[in-house]
Amino acid sequence: MYKPDHVTCNNEKFDLYISKSQLDERIAELGEQLDRDYADKRPILIGILNGAYIFLADLMRHLTIPCEVDFIKLSSYGDEKVSSGKVTERKELDAQIENRHVVLVEDIVDTGLSMSYMINKMKDRNPKSISVVTLLHKKVATKYDVNLNYVGFEIPDRFVLGYGMDYAQEGRNLAQIYALSDNQNG
Ligand code: IMP
Ligand code: MG
Repeated sequence: MYKPDHVTCNNEKFDLYISKSQLDERIAELGEQLDRDYADKRPILIGILNGAYIFLADLMRHLTIPCEVDFIKLSSYGDEKVSSGKVTERKELDAQIENRHVVLVEDIVDTGLSMSYMINKMKDRNPKSISVVTLLHKKVATKYDVNLNYVGFEIPDRFVLGYGMDYAQEGRNLAQIYALSDNQNG
């Protein structure tokens, strides 16, 4: 596992923010909650690529109930540290979700634009239910009204990296979550 205390990514410095053991512990709790809430519902977990793939893989391995997985790919950040304010769809959903219990799995909800787009898109396909699990929530930055059913950690408005999340496509391989060093934020 690649888990340094500090890391440089695209010439900017990041410090450890959420450790591997904190992640493991919280993700196990989220998994146990889903396991209870979705017993007998055969949920389909829909991961939002690319950021959510590592979280989804770890989360799903705590489930003991029958469950399925699929992915959809969105992009809103481009290569910047702030959202472009526009959602681009890059990969369609393959699964049939009509009448199914859908669990959207996201790495981080920032402005909420991507998630509100996703929820509306899923609603069009008439699932039986939709819930959202996000590992991180930048609550102070959220401008769109989205209902987040399961939140791993609420974080301040800081740019984070690792555990699937990137900065200009780099840093997804880090096993922990890092935040841009204080003197570089803003
Ligand atoms: P939103 O649409 O503004 O809520 O942005 C959500 C998407 O932007 C997430 O799915 C992430 O992929 C990406 N994102 C938001 N904040 C960060 C961050 O701090 N680091 C890396 N990616 C982020
Ligand atoms: Mg994402």
